Amino acid sequence: MGGRPDDLAMHVHVITIFPSLLEGFLSAGLPRIAVEKGALTVEAVDLRGFTQDVHRSVDDRPFGGGPGMVMLCAPIFAAVEQIERQHGPAHRVLLTPRGRRLDQKTLKELAGRERLIVLCGHYEGIDERVRTGMQWDEISIGDYVLSGGEVAAMVVLDGVARLLPGVTGHPESTSIESFEDNLLEAPHYTRPREFHGMAVPEVLLSGDHAAIAQWRREQSLTTTRERRADLLLARAEPTQAREGKPWIE
Ligand code: 6GU
Repeated sequence: MGGRPDDLAMHVHVITIFPSLLEGFLSAGLPRIAVEKGALTVEAVDLRGFTQDVHRSVDDRPFGGGPGMVMLCAPIFAAVEQIERQHGPAHRVLLTPRGRRLDQKTLKELAGRERLIVLCGHYEGIDERVRTGMQWDEISIGDYVLSGGEVAAMVVLDGVARLLPGVTGHPESTSIESFEDNLLEAPHYTRPREFHGMAVPEVLLSGDHAAIAQWRREQSLTTTRERRADLLLARAEPTQAREGKPWIE
């Protein structure tokens, strides 16, 4: 999926009023590895750098009254225009609870893009003309309200970074995992073989790879049926779902 050749880095420009929030996130773990390997570049773009007034305002009171503040159009337009003038057109992501819900399929789609602009919303909202005046892919990370889009931006960056070619040593670990097949993962065990009286399931020590694969499959199906029957419904053929058989043998 997507159009970026495997040997090219993905570039992400995050427009934010809190650029320093990204620093810690990019300094550790897999996001850091993605950047170090040259698979990913992340630029935190400080929205205040695109303000026009002495106070460097990024927000104002809402027309029509009401609580809270609204993010101004002009600095956002100026930031997007400068990024695209410098680097060319980008896929624009607007992080807002009003967006389509993020899932693994959307992360894959985003990971195939060459360049993203990610806009982190704040306050009561963003002036509607930002949304209507240029094209955005509006994305929400779930049905709850955050104070701002920065944490959501990190969720997107983290989810995308681990999908970029060459970032995880194991291409397998990104394909045999939760949600890849609308299934939750089977349980994992490592040393010791027994801990506080709890033993590792015998089959995992058997060396019988077919039996292990079958056990994991069964565990996945059982756990998914117990915890997330909605995922099994999404897997099922439409006729199966109608007949109320949300499982796949
Ligand atoms: Cl993307 N932003 C905010 N502020 N809240 C959210 C969200 C995004 N996704 C879920 N809640």
